Amino acid sequence: MREKIDIKRPEGKLGVLIPGLGAVATTFIAGVLLARKGLGKPFGSLTQMGTIRLGKRTEKRVPRIRDFVELAELDDLIFAGWDIFPDNAYEAALKAGVLSKEHLEPVRDELAGIKPMPAVFDRNYVKKLDGPNKKTGANKYELALQLMDDIRKFKEENSLDRLVMVWCASTEIYLRPDPVHETVESLEKAMKENHPAIAPSMIYAYAAIKSGLPFINGAPNLTVDIPAMVQLAWNHNVPIAGKDFKTGQTLMKTIIAPGLKARLLGLNGWFSTNILGNRDGEVLDDPESFKTKEESKLGALEYILQPEVYPELYGKFYHKVRINYYPPRGDNKEGWDNIDIFGWLGYPMQIKIDFLCRDSILAAPIVLDLVLFMDLAWRAGLRGIQEWLSFYFKTPMCAPELYPEHDLFIQLMKLKNTLRYMKGEELITHLGLEYYD
Ligand SMILES: NC(=O)c1ccc[n+]([C@@H]2O[C@H](COP(=O)([O-])OP(=O)(O)OC[C@H]3O[C@@H](n4cnc5c(N)ncnc54)[C@H](O)[C@@H]3O)[C@@H](O)[C@H]2O)c1
Repeated sequence: MREKIDIKRPEGKLGVLIPGLGAVATTFIAGVLLARKGLGKPFGSLTQMGTIRLGKRTEKRVPRIRDFVELAELDDLIFAGWDIFPDNAYEAALKAGVLSKEHLEPVRDELAGIKPMPAVFDRNYVKKLDGPNKKTGANKYELALQLMDDIRKFKEENSLDRLVMVWCASTEIYLRPDPVHETVESLEKAMKENHPAIAPSMIYAYAAIKSGLPFINGAPNLTVDIPAMVQLAWNHNVPIAGKDFKTGQTLMKTIIAPGLKARLLGLNGWFSTNILGNRDGEVLDDPESFKTKEESKLGALEYILQPEVYPELYGKFYHKVRINYYPPRGDNKEGWDNIDIFGWLGYPMQIKIDFLCRDSILAAPIVLDLVLFMDLAWRAGLRGIQEWLSFYFKTPMCAPELYPEHDLFIQLMKLKNTLRYMKGEELITHLGLEYYD
């Protein structure tokens, strides 16, 4: 056995603070409440259903992940959030239309008790939305102080020692890294001067990190993916992770593309289009928000296929991603992929995927796992970017000198090896020669 990392035990309750009580957030909260009562199963969640192999295959040690590492129990999660709409989580869940009214009924009272705090919101960053439940303040720094006050009150009122913040609010307009994002000092100065390079999501992240909370970015927004936030997280011993939950079409891409590359099948083009009709789809109907999402969705193939290493196979593929807002479908997205590949002697072939998925059903277990793993990371003293959680993101954050790892299977190996590392178990290399000695 290697040396273990000292991990504090998950004692007491864990507060989960969520900017954005929309489809993803309410599906996640309702699902946790239903699972607690034994009225639903947390399918799709590694922390609840996944296992991890330890030692040699002959040892047959395959505990559940939740029995292997000390994670907070579902019973110990307490939720709160912010939204520009004053609907409580029950009303918001009904409007989101992901879970049926009958399904929500047994947890109605608990959901109705979650009332959104007034949000930090600015229409310049989400053009398609506006709502009445907003904070006002002299500048962006002052708004951050108000959020920190919300965090402190929630913590005190519920006697919490640990909290995690997870951004489930809308996709903001595309922002490029700006010189004010370079250092903590320049970031704070920019907040005080209401600089346009500071988006609302950054104000939440700043408040979270300054309050010592791990921060997870579920949207493709820049938010914590800037040097100043990484430094701030490091200074406050806080783990951060992002960005953009990997669900639907990108999940499929990162499952299929590693397989094509493994078999050295070439790619001429990959056309992805989808229709969705939820509020997320409406926000993404704005070209500036779509640009943020598009950037996030386009990266995966380039990194997995490595055109510079395999120019004959992947040097010239055409990649297109479209998102179409189509209200009749609600949260039940349909995504089509047409993949033009080629094999032996260059003969062309095609793959068609028609994925009738449910966006928030795919996102909810990701939120749960990230909340529990980020709390674990915090208790284990890990700080800054948590690259081992890349598995959950469309655009995984990583150190500036690295490229992100997008291959779902490498990501899973990295995640499980990190858990083994934390617990002092041997890392698994899949070499296996020792079985034949
Ligand atoms: N499968 C998925 O659904 C999926 C996958 C990856 C990423 N995401 C991202 O997760 C986010 C949430 O998706 P959703 O489907 O729940 O969207 P949604 O529109 O149903 O919910 C977002 C909520 O955020 C609120 N909001 C917007 N700006 C806010 C602010 N500044 N402060 C507080 N609240 C704010 C909105 O009023 C809305 O209620 C989006 O950014 C989306 O792109 C979703």
